[in-house]
Amino acid sequence: MDKKLIFSGIQPTGTFTLGNYIGAVRNWGPLQDEYNCIYCVVDLHAITVKQEPAKLRKNTLDAYALLMACGIDTEKSILFIQSHVKTHAELNWVLGCSTQFGELSRMTQFKDKSKRHADDVNSGLFTYPVLMAADILAYNADLVPVGVDQKQHLELARNIAQRFNQRYGELFTVPEPYIAEIGAKVMSLQDPTKKMSKSDDNPNACILILDDKDTVIRKFKRAVTDSEAEVCYREGKDGINNLMTIYSSVTGKSFDEITSEFAGKGYGDFKLAVGETVADHLAPIRSEFDRLIQDKAYLKKCYTEGAEKAQRYSQRIVSKAYHKVGFVDKA
Ligand code: TYM
Repeated sequence: MDKKLIFSGIQPTGTFTLGNYIGAVRNWGPLQDEYNCIYCVVDLHAITVKQEPAKLRKNTLDAYALLMACGIDTEKSILFIQSHVKTHAELNWVLGCSTQFGELSRMTQFKDKSKRHADDVNSGLFTYPVLMAADILAYNADLVPVGVDQKQHLELARNIAQRFNQRYGELFTVPEPYIAEIGAKVMSLQDPTKKMSKSDDNPNACILILDDKDTVIRKFKRAVTDSEAEVCYREGKDGINNLMTIYSSVTGKSFDEITSEFAGKGYGDFKLAVGETVADHLAPIRSEFDRLIQDKAYLKKCYTEGAEKAQRYSQRIVSKAYHKVGFVDKA
């Protein structure tokens, strides 16, 4: 039987957060053995909020190298930069004409971002989920590994696929979300009721995966917890629950095992253990990133080949979509 196809993407907004890593990227490498995988640095999505061009270019290359450092193997998977493959923007237009204003208005991420960037509520920010649907449907992906925050966008992509298929005849695979059981929503270290995000004003809220060991430990030491002293996973203990989730996903230990490990010890010991374990886990990624980012020629070879493969793959599907809607065939 043919292997199922996985597609996912990440925005090039500087280094990834521990949330990006645990909720998404860390799972992408292991999936390569079981599935055909296509991964993408979504620079077209990034410009829905203001970007400084030189910084975007640097961040995009960094993100590409970082994905490789996190275990994406360009021999096994297709890894490319979104703006290099024109089918995404081409399909975006067609799908936009099958998406309702009302549906896009209900997207919580649009509501949040338009509040945060009130001086620039551009139409790209509004139609962002249509481009995301195009990313996925252009490859007829079966599964999309993402964190919980992308679930609503994925449901919209499914609706768009179904609507197109009903209107024009079967073409698109209706994609399924692939969400990790543990760590699909890593929370802020400073306000554990909010998701960990780079856009947080407080730098201690968020671990970046290229943070050095001391920084990682310091941020965990400052993590907000509660006034009890028991390391256990329980409703109302948002800070500790978050630290347990992080520790569990890095060590593979269950919550019960963690509770026994820290029985009789204080939060200070627990926070230090989480900090050290996470920092040690991230260390090889940091050194592999440092090595890869020096080798611009190799990176260029990888992203050029990745784009060629992605273009070839998606062109077949997007050409069929163009034909189905009634555009005259080009050749
Ligand atoms: P982005 O770049 O915001 O995030 C990349 C991935 O990281 C996950 N994530 C988290 N998971 C757990 N806890 C957190 N605190 C956390 N923060 C982020 C996200 O769920 C995501 O999986 N729109 C997407 C990028 C995209 C995409 C796609 C994804 C564009 N096209 C097609 C899948 C398929 C985004 O902005 O992700």
